[in-house]
Amino acid sequence: MINDKCFDKNCRECPRLSLFLDDVQERYPDYYCRPVPPFGAKEARFLIVGLAPGMHGANRTGRPFTGDYAGVLLYQMLHKHGFANLDHSEAVDDDLILIDCRITNAVKCLPPNNKPVGAEINACNDFLASELRALPSDAIVMVLGGIAHRAVIKALGIRQVEYKFQHAAVHDVGRFRLIDSYHCSRYNINTRRLTEKMFNEVFIKARELLEN
Ligand code: URA
Repeated sequence: MINDKCFDKNCRECPRLSLFLDDVQERYPDYYCRPVPPFGAKEARFLIVGLAPGMHGANRTGRPFTGDYAGVLLYQMLHKHGFANLDHSEAVDDDLILIDCRITNAVKCLPPNNKPVGAEINACNDFLASELRALPSDAIVMVLGGIAHRAVIKALGIRQVEYKFQHAAVHDVGRFRLIDSYHCSRYNINTRRLTEKMFNEVFIKARELLEN
């Protein structure tokens, strides 16, 4: 069945994730501990797709990459390239505004060990598909990491073998273009799999694609 909603804050479709959220909520009563909604206007032409909320970041604050190490470089880049009015994102009640940009996650709930299983990625895929359908036709989608990349390809119903994840690759996926980046996780940044220079170059490319 096609889902026309790109988000459901009451979703409890995945038993493992719902139970995990209940458990984390008990341990951290002040944390948000729900499916985390996309952030930014639906009409935005630039969509960033992350993996899933981080335990002490989006799962705590309720906004993607907010209050999270993984968000530090991301929001700096968004600001530098004109997609945000501030270069940091700490809490939902700050004055941060995304400009022609929206951020979502392939999986909307916090997964144990930051690793959603295949069934959870699939269960959340209708939301992503619905979000992609709502994009303007000149949109650019940036995926952060291979899981987000494959989730987008699946949501579009096209063949994974023809669209392999590769850092900085641009794929023509029909209605819009998709640009790949390694995820800006703490691990990838500390191991220098993703450097500031590499991430900046992907943003330059995204901005060029949007302008042309
Ligand atoms: N926070 C998010 O919202 N998404 C990620 O992929 C990582 C951290």
